Amino acid sequence: MDLHIDGEQLQRDLEALAQFGRSPSGGWTRTALSVADADARGYVAHRLRTLGLDIRHDEVGNLRARRPGRTPDAPVVMTGSHLDTVPSGGYLDGPLGVVGALCAVEAIARAKLTTQRPIEIVVFVGEEGSRFPRGTIGSAAVAGDLPVDEILALRDADGIGFSEALATYRDTGPPLPARMAPGTLHAFIELHIEQGGVLEAAGVPIGAVTAIAGLVQHAVSFLGDANHAGATPMALRRDALCAAAEWLLGLERAAHEIGPGAVATVGKLVVSPGGKNIIPGRVDAICDLRASDGALLDALDAQVRALLSSTRPGIQVELRPLQRVEPGPMDERIVAAIEHAAEQTGRRSHRMVSGAIHDALHMAHLGPSSMIFVPSLAGKSHCPEEASRSDDLITGTLVLAHTLADLAGA
Ligand code: GLV
Ligand code: MN
Ligand code: MN
Repeated sequence: MDLHIDGEQLQRDLEALAQFGRSPSGGWTRTALSVADADARGYVAHRLRTLGLDIRHDEVGNLRARRPGRTPDAPVVMTGSHLDTVPSGGYLDGPLGVVGALCAVEAIARAKLTTQRPIEIVVFVGEEGSRFPRGTIGSAAVAGDLPVDEILALRDADGIGFSEALATYRDTGPPLPARMAPGTLHAFIELHIEQGGVLEAAGVPIGAVTAIAGLVQHAVSFLGDANHAGATPMALRRDALCAAAEWLLGLERAAHEIGPGAVATVGKLVVSPGGKNIIPGRVDAICDLRASDGALLDALDAQVRALLSSTRPGIQVELRPLQRVEPGPMDERIVAAIEHAAEQTGRRSHRMVSGAIHDALHMAHLGPSSMIFVPSLAGKSHCPEEASRSDDLITGTLVLAHTLADLAGA
């Protein structure tokens, strides 16, 4: 197959998306259904129109555009990712998979290839979980893992409802049902930066993802007693922050002990009332647990709860589960198709497990799925320094184009 990626277009698209949601504190903050997210999605919709594709939106705000195949109603080959970011995140996590999908389908069209099956580009809503209490919202809806009414009822920290916030997208016309019927997905492939240092260290430009680690997130509150920092003797304090500190250090030790494949992070801690001369009366934390295996995830989860049950006297604790996504294997046939596509383009590939969560994990519940990874410079991601070599971004997109053409039956 004679497929060529327009590398300058890929770069222009990434730069265009990087205009939206630049954070004054560095990096990009484009939370789900924010104006910046809507503007980025608007840019992608405009590009999809220039490709001559029919654009639709679904009930939860996923954007979908289909290139028809020769066989009407054949199960679809889908590709795409997300446009929302973490606070002060990077410009490639998500957008590469969207822009890569656009440029790969453009390459297939430029080569005048027709395919037996349709190819659909999807922009999933709310992957990062930075605004609403959970992430991978759009793909969970498509796969039927999360009911649409539960998604519409989600609220952000300011009490704004998901259904109300959806208006930011200014979609018109009747939405598609979000959930795809079983049997209608032939394959799903997501192009993404690796977000770790494995490919760079190995000097290999393509990762073929064989499994994605699972995730558990809990909101945990420590309730003590706010009091005077000078006048309250040490023996009479109920310091919520000291209790939270003991808990999170215990969790760090537990993750080390559980071993490779298990990681635990407390990345968010709100100390109240937050005065320099007030004993902290309340701490609200979020813990994020990951493991490549369900038993390891259970072990981490059990540790979180055990450590909380033995918190220091005088402190009350509350735990509110936010999200659990089971680890899952990717499909061997799609992994092999990615490896074959890499070979066709003369590039080496490397099988690997994703430690980060992705929309592909939910899509795998609906049909055969996998991911194409490209190297991240210095393994950095979820931070402003996130970057990849331009050649690697183009190579990943080329491998995506070959994989799509192959799976869609060019
Ligand atoms: C998403 O990027 C995640 O792994 O949290
Ligand atoms: Mn991310
Ligand atoms: Mn991502």
